[in-house]
Formats: sequence, C-alpha cells, structure tokens
Amino acid sequence: MVSCLNSLLDFDLITASRIQSLFLLAEKSKQKKLKPRNLGEVLALLFFEPSTRTRLSFETAALRAGIGHFYFDGKASSSLEKGETLSDCFLNIAAMKPSVIVVRSPSLFPLFDLKEKVSVPIINAGWGAHSHPTQALLDIFTLLQVGKFDIASLSQKKILIVGDLKHSRVAASHIQLSQKLGYKIGQCGPSPFLVQNQFVNSFTNLKEGLQWADVVMPLRFQFERHTNETSFSVEEFKSLYNLNSGNLSDLPPNSFIFHPGPVNYGIEIEPEVTTDPRCQILNQVEHGVYIREALLRTILGEE
Ligand code: CP
Repeated sequence: MVSCLNSLLDFDLITASRIQSLFLLAEKSKQKKLKPRNLGEVLALLFFEPSTRTRLSFETAALRAGIGHFYFDGKASSSLEKGETLSDCFLNIAAMKPSVIVVRSPSLFPLFDLKEKVSVPIINAGWGAHSHPTQALLDIFTLLQVGKFDIASLSQKKILIVGDLKHSRVAASHIQLSQKLGYKIGQCGPSPFLVQNQFVNSFTNLKEGLQWADVVMPLRFQFERHTNETSFSVEEFKSLYNLNSGNLSDLPPNSFIFHPGPVNYGIEIEPEVTTDPRCQILNQVEHGVYIREALLRTILGEE
C-alpha cells in the first residue's frame, strides 16, 4: 500500500496507486478470494437521505467481509424527531465507537468539520450535491471489468454525462476522480444543468456527444435539489436528451451505457435502453458490492 487510507470523504487525498490497490482488492472480492474477518468490527450505516443501492451494497459488503453492522434510518422514529441535530446524532453514534461510519447526508451537513471531531473512520455515501465517491469508484471499476481494460488505458476513455450534472454528486465525484485517473468527462444537457469546469468537454448536441463517448451516463432529474433558477422543463428535456432506441445508434457499438440509479423511465431514458447489450446498469450495482467490501477492508487495515 502506498499511503494510508483511513476515511473516504472525497478524492483529494487519495493517490492513483491507492485506487489501483483498491481495484485489485475489489477483484479478489469478486472472485470470492477474501476470507470473512470475524474480528468483532462494527460498521455504522447512517442514512439521513434515502437510498437503496448504496445502503444495501454496504450492508452486503459488510456481511461478505464478516463485519457486523447497524443501520440508522434518518427518516424513521429517532431522537431527530425530538429536535436533535444531524451533527449531534452523528457525534453520539461516533461515541459508540463503531469501527467505521458510512454516512449519507444532505448538502448542509458539516461532513469535513465532523471528521475533525471524531477518531472513527468515515466513508461518504453521498453528500448532498457535493460528492459520492464510492459511486464514481464503482463506475470505473465496472468499466475496467466489463471492458477488460487495465487502469493505464483509462487515459483513452471518455464518459459522457447527460442531463442534470449541476445537482449531481455522482458527476461531481467523477470530475474529481477523472483528474486522478486520466479519463475524460463530457457533458450534454440544458444550460441550467451544466457545470463550469475547464476539464469537462461540453456538447450542445446529444448525437455528437454519443458519437464521442466510450460510456454514456444519463442522470435523473434531481428534482429535490432544484430552485426556480436551476430547473428545466421535463418535456423539453425529453425531446432533446432522452436516451432511447432511436438515438442509441449514435453510440459506438463497443461503448457502454451506465446509470447510477435510481432510473426515472420516460425522462432521461426509455425502458428499452436497459435491454441494449451495452447496458451495464445492474453490473454497476454488482461491482458496487466488491468496491465497498474492498474499501471497508482497506480502511480496517487489510492489504
Ligand atoms: N446510486 C445511488 O446512490 O443509489 P441510491 O440512492 O439508491 O443509494
């Protein structure tokens, strides 16, 4: 191992070689070559925003790794209903000394400040519109696996993200991760949904973007994060950016279709996209388990 990894909040402090080591461990997880740890470790899963994939894939990863876990549902009955703040809730659970805390939180949650206040390792499982590092890692691991590429070849790969990048933590994490691993990011969507970033190639026309891409990744409308200024007409969006059997012919035959989920059919994609042989949506979910198992094991000191 090249450098210590004791939390994952974003990609600022992680090196490309550390990510490569993580991918190697994830591959061992996929091949069922890892033994359960059974060391009495406890994973705390704190979800202050809804989740299906991330929560259950961390739970599956913990079960596979022989790590005990508990789940705190920020929506269900808890002392949050009695006025406790999210920060106090977090600090109290950290005081129970779990081995690792996985936290999904809204944008205003002071994730980095809280990291300074606790000794427990923290994994960011989606932080408002800021970042979702494990999703970006699992996407790239999936690309390496399904494309049978090595990590060095990522510098030749191009991912077109379509739709609501501005409110997407997945897009934000990919823009950051692409700087570590060398792949290119393109964006295509209405101007209120686009990001201003010198490293992102912008396409006004979906056809041109699809022809450029090795991976196309439509995103759902993040309705819950929109304001009047940052929203866009769903009907107009569909007419310009919806992915369907008609425009998929513009995507090169050896390219792939990804989506971080959840999918909103009839807006960013049509159901027939999921039956296209290039579609890897459920493969992404599968590889998310391996990446999260590898990440948990790495943070707990395994190499
Ligand atoms: N991709 C993703 O984060 O999905 P969930 O919101 O279901 O966890």
